[in-house]
Amino acid sequence: MNVLKAENLSKIYGKRSSLQVKAIDNISLTVKKGEFIGVMGPSGSGKTTLLHLLSTIDSPTSGSVEINGKQISSMTDGKLAKFRRREMGFVFQDFNLLDTLTIEENILLPMTLDHQKIRDMEKRLMDVSRKLEIESILKKRTYEVSGGQMQRAAIARAIIHDPSIIFADEPTGNLDSRSSEQVMESFQMLHEEQEATILMVTHDPFAASFCERIVFIKDGRIYTEIYRGDNRQSFFQDILNVMSILGGNTDDFQTVRV
Ligand SMILES: Nc1ncnc2c1ncn2[C@@H]1O[C@H](COP(=O)(O)OP(=O)(O)O)[C@@H](O)[C@H]1O
Ligand SMILES: [Mg+2]
Repeated sequence: MNVLKAENLSKIYGKRSSLQVKAIDNISLTVKKGEFIGVMGPSGSGKTTLLHLLSTIDSPTSGSVEINGKQISSMTDGKLAKFRRREMGFVFQDFNLLDTLTIEENILLPMTLDHQKIRDMEKRLMDVSRKLEIESILKKRTYEVSGGQMQRAAIARAIIHDPSIIFADEPTGNLDSRSSEQVMESFQMLHEEQEATILMVTHDPFAASFCERIVFIKDGRIYTEIYRGDNRQSFFQDILNVMSILGGNTDDFQTVRV
């Protein structure tokens, strides 16, 4: 079953033809239920734009996006906002947690916004925080915990309402290598044990090696796709090989770790 189906997506920025940028050029992509897919490509290749189109944050110039069989373009803004809140979970590079709230309050926010029952929320919270090993920090605030813990809290927030698909944009971009590994192991656990469907944009080959499939994009088009076999190490090497052929990632790395 497909969770997401994008057909012939294009995105042109800019109104005046002399200033137009074709950021996405006729991309079609399907994501099956339970798939863990990565999107990679050099800086400026269109990764963020693609993620925004797939996650319905932005609308394409042409083409269509279907999530759980529903055509996104046919929904009104109000319906779409609700659909997004129920069906999608988001994880960002800079965590996007509110520092005025505790970790627990941050995680519960999507359920609170959806007016869910307190008892259901608490049960779900315990369940999710046990899986992500963040039970001990639930009463703390964001400035009292590490980056890796913050990102795992953000993942908890993204999955608390059991969404159909999780979108992650450079989730390891602000983390050291140890925290990156923990965060990627969390995604892997969700993928393997919960059959979560995850689409992650990254330029970190280590993070990408946890995916099942990677779609490489260049100049707004799909360049190639590679699948992981049994061995993450050899997949990591495959990723590096494609990256070196694609080129153009050196400036990306400057922005990754500061
Ligand atoms: N809001 C925007 N307005 C105009 N051009 C944009 C905008 N966002 C991105 N672009 C351009 O679209 C292309 C793809 O950008 P982006 O999706 O951010 O790539 P990536 O995430 O792979 O670095 C780039 O040429 C970028 O300059
Ligand atoms: Mg980007």
